[in-house]
This record gives sequence, structure tokens and C-alpha cells, in this order.
Amino acid sequence: MKARIIPIASAPKPLPAGSDALAAPLDGSLVDRRNRRVRDLRISVTDRCNFRCVYCMPKAVFDHDHAFLPRAELLSFEEIVRIARIFVDQGVEKIRITGGEPLLRRHIENLIEQLAKLPVELTLTTNGSLLTKKARALRDAGLTRVTVSLDGLDDAVFKRMNDVDYPVSDVLDGIAAAAAAGLAPIKVNCVVKRGTNDDQILPLARHFRNSGHILRFIEFMDVGSSNGWRMDEVLPSADVIARINAEFPLQAIDANYHGEVAERWRYRDGAGEIGVISSVTQAFCATCTRIRLSTEGQLYTCLFARSGHDLRALLRQGADDDQLQRVIAAVWRGRDDRYSEIRTAATALPGKIEMSYIGG
Ligand code: GTP
Ligand code: 5AD
Ligand code: SF4
Ligand code: SF4
Repeated sequence: MKARIIPIASAPKPLPAGSDALAAPLDGSLVDRRNRRVRDLRISVTDRCNFRCVYCMPKAVFDHDHAFLPRAELLSFEEIVRIARIFVDQGVEKIRITGGEPLLRRHIENLIEQLAKLPVELTLTTNGSLLTKKARALRDAGLTRVTVSLDGLDDAVFKRMNDVDYPVSDVLDGIAAAAAAGLAPIKVNCVVKRGTNDDQILPLARHFRNSGHILRFIEFMDVGSSNGWRMDEVLPSADVIARINAEFPLQAIDANYHGEVAERWRYRDGAGEIGVISSVTQAFCATCTRIRLSTEGQLYTCLFARSGHDLRALLRQGADDDQLQRVIAAVWRGRDDRYSEIRTAATALPGKIEMSYIGG
């Protein structure tokens, strides 16, 4: 790619530690130390959320005193698009917008509109609370589809999970608005916490059969350091499948693409498909092609990382596209992450980034 000339008011400051990466070759063969390519860029656009899901932003930690990022710290849309374009040149085929709750970011449809010009599949993960209002504008801006989180069909259980008294009906309205706007196929994600919402598995399955939407159950993960994760609250996906199969016979089906996170199952009676995401009981690191950009421009090579690589500093010190590309390539080439495969007592160590900061 041709270097862009960026006017800078003063001489650039020295680039941050790790910038010896600027010497890395640009030969186009971008694989990490485990021979994985970079295919999927997940961009967090805000660390804020209007929910306080117990497995993600427990109220005890994310209370009135919690310091969210000030606006000046956030990457601007222009900065995000610039980084995204470089990733696309490096082989990224899919971009997912996450948060926090991404629809809380002001004028998010303007970012979507700019990203939609790139040759990628462009998706977004949301809690659904603002979808009724925003689905049409998102679609018009060029969003391909959405994934909506919904952890129960019973109001009392769902409210226990989101912890802000948010009703199920509003999320269902949001899903309907997304479907009407053409943001399909819609995926519905349910994080399962044994003893808290596992009684919702069958009601959700019954509800979304024949809807055309793809319901997926996610094992409760030890992301971050504040959600009080315990293995005995993880319901293995095999149990989820067994419970549904007992009422509606299921059949395993092939992945849509190499490295798909969800394992797919179809209802034998033709009522559609469901998925399970088993990052605890059946890690999928071996095919992990994902990289994550935080709201403030830190690049993380794993959901369970403790530290990132500061792209914002490079951007704001006037690095040109070639320099950024070399740093990004060096970060990916040096990647050796496989946290879910080697999860041990080390899991309990503090300091992992929070899901609300880095996105799902
Ligand atoms: P699509 O196939 O495009 O819908 O994307 P996806 O399967 O990656 O789905 P989505 O982005 O909705 O991810 C679903 C959930 O899987 C996330 O919310 C996370 O809980 C989990 N997940 C996604 N990527 C990773 C990952 O790299 N590692 C781990 N451990 N979990 C992940
Ligand atoms: N375990 C599993 N999934 C999680 N998510 C957030 N926190 C966790 C966790 N601890 C999922 C949400 C949503 C996406 C943003 O990430 O359900 O689908
Ligand atoms: Fe918000 Fe999503 Fe986290 Fe729930 S899981 S608190 S909706 S970011
Ligand atoms: Fe990828 Fe890290 Fe998740 Fe493994 S734990 S699948 S390496 S993000």
C-alpha cells in the first residue's frame, strides 16, 4: 500500500516501545506463531453500557464511582476507519462493532457508513435496547446484520441477568425491528449461568424455533477479573444440546466457515438451527483468527489479554499508514495466545481486561 503523507505540526515524537516492529517485512504472508491468519477485527466503540449484566458489568464494580473513558481518550471515527482499512489490506474479511453497548456511541451510523465502504462483512453485537430506534438507520448506513444478546424469556430471570430491570419485550421489539429492516440473519446470544438462567434454555428454544433467527448459547466465561466466575456455574454446551434434543431432536451440521466460533445444530423437523459456543469445555483457540481494537485504540490479540499495543499513540504521533501496517503485522506475527486451551488456576490472577472494555 502507498504511504499517505500526513501533515504534522511538529517533528514526530519517538514512537513507543515495541516500535522496532517498524523494521518488520511487508511481504503479505501474515500468520501468527501458531500459523493462524487474521480474518476478524472486533472494534469496541464505547466502554459504557445501560445494562449491568451480572457476568459482564457487575454493579458492585461498575457503580457510580466507576471511571469510564473520557471522550478525548476514544478513537475518533476517522482513526477507527484508518486502522480498519489497514487491517482489511492485511486480510481481514469481517468487522464486528462491539462495546460496551455500541449503540450508545453517538452518531454510530456515521461510523457504519464509512466502514461499509470497505470490502468486508460488517456486523454489530448489541443488547437490543436501542434497536427499535436505530435498526433502520443502521441498515441504511450499510450494516450487514446484527447479533442481539438475550439471556432469558421470563422477565424476572432476564432482569436478574441484566440487573437494571430491563424487560424482555423491549428486546424482542428490537429484534423484530432489526428483522423488518433486513439485518438478517439475526443471531440471538444467550450466556448461560447454571442456577441463574439455565431454566430459560427450553423457553428460548421454543420461542425462536421457526423464527429464522439463530439462537446461540454461550458458556459463562472467566473474562475480566470482576464477574466472580466459578466453574460450577458453567453449564457445558453438551448439556444444553442434550436438554433441547430431548424435546426437539437435533442433528449436528457443518460449520459455515473455518474457525467458526459456534458449533451448529439443526432441528430435525426443519424448524431452523441453533448454535453453542463452548469456549470453556471445548476451546477453539487453534483456529482463532480474531483481533480486537479497544475504544481507546489498544490492540489486543486475545479476549483474555492483560495488555495491549497502543495504536492510538502511533496515530496521534503522526505515524503514516506504512508504519501502522508494519506495527500491526508485527503484533500479529508475534501472537501466541491460546488462553482457553491452557486455562488453569492462573485464571484467578487479576488484571485481565474486562469484556465491557474490549467487547464480546
Ligand atoms: P458470527 O459467526 O459472524 O455471527 O460471529 P461469531 O460466531 O464470532 O459470534 P459473536 O461475535 O456473536 O461471538 C459470540 C460470542 O462468542 C461472544 O460474545 C463471546 O462470548 C464468544 N467469543 C467470540 N469470540 C471469542 C474468542 O475469540 N474467544 C472466546 N473465548 N470467546 C469468544
Ligand atoms: N461469558 C460469556 N459471554 C459473555 N459476554 C459478555 N460477558 C460474557 C461472559 N463472561 C457476551 C454477551 C454478549 C457479548 C457482548 O459478550 O452475552 O453476547
Ligand atoms: Fe452491557 Fe453486553 Fe456487558 Fe450486558 S453483556 S453489561 S449488555 S456490554
Ligand atoms: Fe482466541 Fe484468545 Fe479466545 Fe483462544 S481465548 S479463541 S486465542 S481470543
